[in-house]
Amino acid sequence: MDSHERPDWAPDTLVVSAGRPPHTPDSPVNPPIVLSSTFRGTGTPGAGERVYGRFTNPTWDPLEQAIAQLECSELPALVYASGMAAVASAFSLLPAGGTLVVPRHAYNGSLALAADLATRYGIVVREAALEDTEATIALLDGADMIWLESPTNPMLEVADLPALIAAARAAGVLVVVDNTFATPLLQRPLTLGADVVVHSATKYMGGHSDVVLGAVVSSDEALHARLHGHRTLHGAIAGPFEAWLTLRGIRTMALRVERAEENATELARRLSRHPAIDAVRYPGLPTDPGYGRAKAQMDGFGSILAIEVAGGADRAEKLLEALELWTPATSLGGVESLAERRRRHPSEPVSVPENLIRLSVGIENIEDLWTDLAGALERSA
Ligand SMILES: Cc1ncc(COP(=O)(O)O)c(C=O)c1O
Repeated sequence: MDSHERPDWAPDTLVVSAGRPPHTPDSPVNPPIVLSSTFRGTGTPGAGERVYGRFTNPTWDPLEQAIAQLECSELPALVYASGMAAVASAFSLLPAGGTLVVPRHAYNGSLALAADLATRYGIVVREAALEDTEATIALLDGADMIWLESPTNPMLEVADLPALIAAARAAGVLVVVDNTFATPLLQRPLTLGADVVVHSATKYMGGHSDVVLGAVVSSDEALHARLHGHRTLHGAIAGPFEAWLTLRGIRTMALRVERAEENATELARRLSRHPAIDAVRYPGLPTDPGYGRAKAQMDGFGSILAIEVAGGADRAEKLLEALELWTPATSLGGVESLAERRRRHPSEPVSVPENLIRLSVGIENIEDLWTDLAGALERSA
């Protein structure tokens, strides 16, 4: 089945069934890992010929098909060596000297790469407070690309995706959405009119913190060809084993995402009543400014939340040191719960509070997660 032939199945069936080998006698249930840097061929390489392992690899195909089906893309996804390689490929769609609108809060690697493009290639970067729809739309005038992240990393602001995408399209601005936090289970930006979707599959798709991989998805033939060309020439390709592991991770993504969200919702409730917490940012809390939008445009609220610890950065660091079950570490989207004070990275925007800890909630028992967090809050006082 071609990737654009999306079976009429629910997303939690697609994660299990997409990208399986054909239903023929004795076929394996799982696609094989193909370890070959080159492929037989003679004459002038023609359309569809594999040629060389930097151009294609049969292990990428089922993963690219599965991600495309989940994101409702008419063309296969393109997988890359990392989420940042995918981000770089999407940024390559900017014209020389073009204008890029980025969220003021977003993954700091994407913001750092945008700043690098500004310094070295004359790209003009405009920063938007995505939660402010009118102010963001005002920045679209004369822009070439808008980069959207919703919810934002790590502030959990929710952008009005339908309104921003519609406004950008009307203004002829290319729309790229980093959909890493939401996953295609909770949000499918191509169906809202986005041109390109980017993923760090390192996070929820892989799901076990054991693989680094990225993906870009677009239903537009011309954009897809340019992205494919960029991947081939720049060479940031996914290893076959990483591609295989990512597809294996996707098989359980629906269960993991659901369970992690249940845990996150309960933790957000309890933390918002805790005297040592100044603020909880989680779009699944009815009191959160992003709640209404998230409810309208997402199929769930995800499992990342941010807390602001009373007592500042010192107390926040002490809290992280006092944790026994939670792991103080960067990254997110794995089965295990992680916590990180984001301002420990010098590259994090200064508008992110010093005392903000991002929690990536995993699938452990909720009471164990709470006991550890509440105990560490007490021990760090
Ligand atoms: C939202 C988001 N986009 C992109 C990336 C970059 O992905 P990778 O680390 O796989 O290169 C990250 C990594 O943390 C991320 O959180």
